[in-house]
Order: sequence, then structure tokens, then C-alpha cells
Amino acid sequence: MATKANQATASNLAGKARASAPAAFALPDAGDGAREFHFSDADFRGLVDLAYKFAGIALSDSKRNLVYSRLSRRLRTLGMKTFSTYREYLEETESERENFINAISTNLTKFFRESHHFDHFREQIAVPFSRNRSTNRLRVWSAGCSSGEEPHTIAMVLKREIRDVERQDVRILATDIDTEMVARGTRGEYPENSLDEVPRAYQEYFERTSKPNTLVVDRAVRSLIAFKRLNLMETWPFKGPFDAIFCRNVMIYFDGPTKAQLIERFTEKIRPGGFLYIGHSESLNGAHPGISLVGRTIYRRV
Ligand SMILES: C[S@@+](CC[C@H](N)C(=O)[O-])C[C@H]1O[C@@H](n2cnc3c(N)ncnc32)[C@H](O)[C@@H]1O
Repeated sequence: MATKANQATASNLAGKARASAPAAFALPDAGDGAREFHFSDADFRGLVDLAYKFAGIALSDSKRNLVYSRLSRRLRTLGMKTFSTYREYLEETESERENFINAISTNLTKFFRESHHFDHFREQIAVPFSRNRSTNRLRVWSAGCSSGEEPHTIAMVLKREIRDVERQDVRILATDIDTEMVARGTRGEYPENSLDEVPRAYQEYFERTSKPNTLVVDRAVRSLIAFKRLNLMETWPFKGPFDAIFCRNVMIYFDGPTKAQLIERFTEKIRPGGFLYIGHSESLNGAHPGISLVGRTIYRRV
């Protein structure tokens, strides 16, 4: 059944496809002469439209070289000679969508990124939960979790504040559209120098492994998190409600209508008094009646 959100996304897509057609003649010269594969304006526009259709990702013209270089690898792997062959294959082959999305998504992240969010989360969610035992249920969603640094940071904060956290009904849902990122998050292994991002008080939650220069997050911390592949543009197969949702540095890739629709859907999933954390450059324009700004890029469900 098509949800309200899906319908909105489909109509955004139609608008986007119409809007993109005239611009096909306005792109700068891509310097094709020096390239391994011919990459026409039609190829770029076609791939931009598919990124929007499959993932809601709105790629600007400045991403042309990035799209070329990341997808050239797919062409080589598949033994294809042209981007138009690849586009046809992508349209016809559902399994290739995953590789396409994995290739074009941007996964930059780190532990304790925008650390003021975790200070707020600790004070407003973790500490009150550890003091008030009228409920033992706590749910947090890291939506667009990339390789897992964000949900592991949330889990470390909860583990540190709630000493018997494993015996409580405390769960973190960590989702991303990129299957390689979901697999990395599930492994919980990170290069040793990731510790540079982690405050000293939390470094005890990392252990050495037999692999060189690799640490693994403590099993008790990892056990709080369920990693799943989820495209935010599709139906969400869970009810909530969540005490907090982190969707940071994800909506930056979406256009205005997609972002507004997503905020509405997040709002429905947060319990009254719960919080939505967004990225530093993602301030919300327009009216969002269900949430109010209570801190730097922090919204409270009314
Ligand atoms: C820059 S990372 C942000 C990671 C983390 N939230 C942070 O702030 O450090 C953006 C993530 O959003 C994911 N993403 C992009 N479009 C998505 C979609 N439609 N559904 C789910 N995840 C998506 C990408 O795969 C990527 O891992």
C-alpha cells in the first residue's frame, strides 16, 4: 500500500525529472577526452534521476566527477564499456540498485561527532532514565547510521550512565540504506586511531583484536544495538515510539519536500517529550507543529 510519504516522494520525483530535462544542455564540459569511459550529460542526468528515485538523494551538478569516478568502478567490475549500458542494466536489474546506492552514498562520520548532542542526550534521556525506574523501556533510533560510530556513541553513553543497562529494555535501532555500512557497524571494528575521537572516560569500551591496528567495541555495548538496512524513503517496519531519534548529516542530501515529509514522519515516531537531533547544517525551514527547537539543532516533541 502506498503511504502518504511514498506518494509525496513519487510526486517529488516526477517534479525533479521534469525540472532536470532542460539543464541537460547547461552542464560544463566534463573533459571526456582524458576519461576511460564516455560520460555524457544524458548519462549524468539519468543517474541523478535514479539516485533520487531509489534513495531520495538529490545530486547537484557539482557531484558529476564523484558520480563518474565511483561508478566507473562498477563498470569495470561488470566488464561494461559504456555508461548507457550500465544505466539500462541498472533500470532492469533490481539487485544492482544496492551497489549503485552503496557507490554514490557519502558515509563520513565519527565517534562523538557534534558532541553537544551527546551531552544533551546524557542529561535529558540517560540520566533521568537511570534515576526514574517507573519504566524500563528506552528506544533510540540512529537513522542514517553509516558505519556505526553514531549508534555506538549513543550506546556508550547509555552504558556509562545506566550500570545495569543490559538487564533493562533498552534498544538502539541503527539503520542505513548502504549495506556495506550496515555490515561494518554490525562488526563494530574500527581502526585504532578512532580512539582520538573518543573522550578518555569512554575509551574503556574498546578492546584490542587479533587484527593489526584494529579495535572492537565492547560486547555489552554492541549488544544494545540492532543494525538493519533501511531506505528512509520506504515504509518503516516498526512502530516506535522512540525516546530520541538521531538523523544527522543525512537530510543534507535530500531536497526540501523530501526533508519536510521526513520530519513529519520522524515526529510521529517520537514520544511526547522525546528529542530529534539533526546535523549542524540542516536547520529546519517552515512550520513543524509537532516539534519545537530547544537547543542547537535539537528539537523536542510537543
Ligand atoms: C554522512 S553519513 C551520516 C552518518 C551519521 N549520521 C553522522 O552524522 O555522522 C549519511 C548516511 O546517510 C545514508 N543515507 C543516504 N540516503 C539514505 C536513505 N534514503 N535512507 C537511509 N540512509 C540514507 C548514507 O548511506 C550515509 O551512510
